[in-house]
Amino acid sequence: MRILAIETSCDETSIAVLQTKEDGGFNILTNNVSSQIAVHAPFGGVVPMLAKREHQKNLVPILKQSLEESGLLKIQSTKSHIPNKSKIQTINKILEREDVLFKLLESFLKKYAKPEIDLIAVTNGPGLEPALWVGVNFAKALACFWDLPVLPVNHVEAHIVANWLNQKEKIVFPAVSLIVSGGHTQLILMSDFGKYKILGETRDDAAGEAFDKLAKMLNLGYPGGPIVARIAAEAKEIDRGSVRLPRPMITSKDYDFSFSGLKTAALYFVKTLDKKTLKKLTPSICADFQQSIVDVLVSKTIRAAREYNVKSVLLSGGVAANDLLRQTLEKESKRFGLTFSVPPKEFCTDNAAMIALTAAFAKKNAVKWEKIQVDANLRLQ
Ligand code: KG4
Ligand code: ZN
Repeated sequence: MRILAIETSCDETSIAVLQTKEDGGFNILTNNVSSQIAVHAPFGGVVPMLAKREHQKNLVPILKQSLEESGLLKIQSTKSHIPNKSKIQTINKILEREDVLFKLLESFLKKYAKPEIDLIAVTNGPGLEPALWVGVNFAKALACFWDLPVLPVNHVEAHIVANWLNQKEKIVFPAVSLIVSGGHTQLILMSDFGKYKILGETRDDAAGEAFDKLAKMLNLGYPGGPIVARIAAEAKEIDRGSVRLPRPMITSKDYDFSFSGLKTAALYFVKTLDKKTLKKLTPSICADFQQSIVDVLVSKTIRAAREYNVKSVLLSGGVAANDLLRQTLEKESKRFGLTFSVPPKEFCTDNAAMIALTAAFAKKNAVKWEKIQVDANLRLQ
């Protein structure tokens, strides 16, 4: 079976093609990600309507590239082939709010034949509503035109499943899964594919959002996570003791998180400094901010893993690209005899390969395109 997967929940436009194998394995034929970082950087965060505009421009070129790289792009063979007019009208209706996308798609469909795809998978939530709709309406239009079933995929579930994309260690259930990204921070108990229990989550900002806000506050650039981590590495031991930020909720008995207070504490601290001292202490502020987030995430994840007596600890989402978090959680997991898994960095941030694999593992059935809805606040349970 070949799955074409579409991901547009935030600021990456991504399309992947995955082929399942008889032995239960799979091959990722292609996974293309087009990032909109340059577009959102001046605003220090993702602007939903700009994300929608970029997805509209990017989807058809990425689809063409993805089919080409998978060996599935074929020009219409017969000269007489004129696409069914009523189908074009239907996809025009599906894409009535995405007129730029409709025009690009119409000329693509007139030129290229139906590819050998069996299923379309698309992220239908959670995420930014205008961004999600572009991907979902694109999936609907393709499914309608090519008569294919569609499987809606939960973005958070896909971040968890990303752990199976390039599996080094055998993951044994039950597992505790920490998903940390720009939009989500959740601790989830997983007893099998499709069986999840949310143990805790952030009450305000997501961990990635906290990094992004600190970077914005210190004028360091966007996205904040990688920049804060890089500057933290420059911190001098002698300065480290001058900065001590809180570790929010680290001792609370639940598995919830709160990162907005950390940003406020950093802001108050910064306000006490003159320009020269701020410049000197910026690497240490970044280092302690990063350490605080890592301390809280690791401490609660390991506590949950022990309380629920799990066998594996899984880490994923954009913030899972953070080296300190990867190394610390791995070390602590191993200390308690737990299997640890984290995807390669390219599969931590948003990508369509994880959407394709979630569809391949899904225990639910694909549906007709008319049935797919967007849910910006879609939950796992
Ligand atoms: O999963 P993702 O690509 O998008 C969402 O679903 O939100 O995550 C993006 C987030 C951003 O907040 C970014 O600052 C953060 O992941 N991030 C990092 C690192 N790389 C990306 N945070 C900390 N350290 C990193 N190396
Ligand atoms: Zn994500």
